Amino acid sequence: MKSAWQGKDFISVDTLTQESLTELFDKADEMKRLVEEKGGNDALKGRVMAALFYEPSSRTFGSFVAAMQRLGGGVIPLNMTNSSATKGESLEDTAKVFSSYADVIVMRNPAVGSAVSMADHAWVPVVSAGDGIGEHPTQALLDAYTIRAELGKFEGTHVVFVGEMAHYRPVNSLAKLLALFPKIKLSFVADPAFALQDGVRDYLKTKKVDFAEYENLDDIVAEADALYVTRPKKEFIPAELYEKALGKYRVDAKTLEKMKPSSIVMHALPRLDEIAVEVDQDPRAVYLNKQMKNGMYTRMALLDLIING
Ligand code: CP
Repeated sequence: MKSAWQGKDFISVDTLTQESLTELFDKADEMKRLVEEKGGNDALKGRVMAALFYEPSSRTFGSFVAAMQRLGGGVIPLNMTNSSATKGESLEDTAKVFSSYADVIVMRNPAVGSAVSMADHAWVPVVSAGDGIGEHPTQALLDAYTIRAELGKFEGTHVVFVGEMAHYRPVNSLAKLLALFPKIKLSFVADPAFALQDGVRDYLKTKKVDFAEYENLDDIVAEADALYVTRPKKEFIPAELYEKALGKYRVDAKTLEKMKPSSIVMHALPRLDEIAVEVDQDPRAVYLNKQMKNGMYTRMALLDLIING
């Protein structure tokens, strides 16, 4: 049977279904076993991924490259230092360049909607690795995979996001992805200046998701099954607002005392000071180990399903 992912772009979580997610998660389980037992295989031998990163990245770039390499494929790594975009080449022409060389294009770009433009002009599948303050759809895949792996289900699960919502694309993508699951509960804790984007709030209302917004983390943290901590996105926040975003929310040992023993603490990373280092050793902290590794397994699954089906 043909995969729901084969030959398709992945630029927004809006295109996901429960079935396509299950297919990807099952494949990611396979990839996890493969890496643990053998390190990798030749499933993508002879295939090439163009990794076009117009913004800095450690995890997304690193895990996509590792994913391709563990499956025997090749990579064209390109950033703003070595791209002809610095000479003024358009995104549309760049799409044609890398469609000529690669089987799949993975792109991060600071402009909202850039992944859609790339996909409109490329003739190979395009995967968004983040478009400004828009979406980070593959981050949502690894986050949802982590929630399923650690908590066992989405039904009845309460995910509490804390910190910066307004410019933080992983929140946009994960909140919309979780809206696929009818009994999910979402809470968003933020200063009003950094509250949820209107488009995401409207999306959740349209999908009839049970969600609420707070300013005080103590009002809701005891109910969290997953606490998703975010970083003030200096790169996208107006300078005069950035100082206001720093230090308002900090998860530390005292926060953990208020949380359920069965809960988890997540972060897309990189972090600044919003999670104290003392939290890293708590068994509920999954951001530096499981969540990050799941990024590679889910991206291996995604590349395999898009290219091989
Ligand atoms: N989570 C994430 O997108 O990290 P990077 O910016 O390092 O890729």
